[in-house]
Amino acid sequence: MKKQAQLYEGKAKKVFATDDPDLVIVDYKDDATAFNGAKKGTITGKGVINNKLTNYLMQVLEREGIPTHFVEELSDRETLVKKVSIVPLEVIVRNRSAGHFASRYGVEEGIVFPQPTIEFSYKCDALDDPLLNHYHALALGLATQEEIDRITGLSFRINDVLKRFFSEVGVTLVDFKLEFGKLSDGTIVLADEISPDTCRLWDAKTGEKLDKDRFRRDMGGVEDAYQEIMRRVFGA
Ligand code: TMP
Ligand code: ASP
Repeated sequence: MKKQAQLYEGKAKKVFATDDPDLVIVDYKDDATAFNGAKKGTITGKGVINNKLTNYLMQVLEREGIPTHFVEELSDRETLVKKVSIVPLEVIVRNRSAGHFASRYGVEEGIVFPQPTIEFSYKCDALDDPLLNHYHALALGLATQEEIDRITGLSFRINDVLKRFFSEVGVTLVDFKLEFGKLSDGTIVLADEISPDTCRLWDAKTGEKLDKDRFRRDMGGVEDAYQEIMRRVFGA
């Protein structure tokens, strides 16, 4: 499948057309941003890790009956995926308090919730991805009630699968962000990525952070943390 014109460049990935109108190629970069692009940097090797990890996890999810955009890994950084129109909602599932949940509600990080939470933000860089509830999403015409129900159900199922998967390799899945897309027939599929950029992953024994918070918070050891997740998932 040959790369054609670039369709889009995001903060961490580029998207290219192919000769099939229903397929596009995603190309993962090493660029890292935080706080809506206010902080910029490079995490060497991140693109390769996020590509491989996302593809692996999407295949795990497919086997559990979750529809995804994944088609085929083409190279270290490039993957063929189904072309979707992205639903402009960032879906965040949390198992423990951290990040904006902890700061917004004034609680410490690491509190284990009795059941997972879900929240949506409006995917709009110009507005800094504001938090919204499903009535707001309906009011803004971002998705239909049926789509929101489907996305919510899929997100909690994805959490069950990923939580179990990571716990088997000694990693606590604290929270994560998902994006969904619509195929031309309206089918909702999981899109974007599942990686240390988009998940909070803590060592289950020590609580050490093995994710992008090391970059966001200038903690050092960023590349090592991404590589440690690779080792846990793929072995030495
Ligand atoms: P938050 O606590 O900052 O709201 O983040 C929740 C989760 O979502 C965390 O795992 C990081 C991820 N996330 C993204 O993938 N992209 C973003 O732009 C933000 C703000 C968070
Ligand atoms: N990648 C996001 C940005 O720069 C934020 C984050 O992941 O913290 O907007």
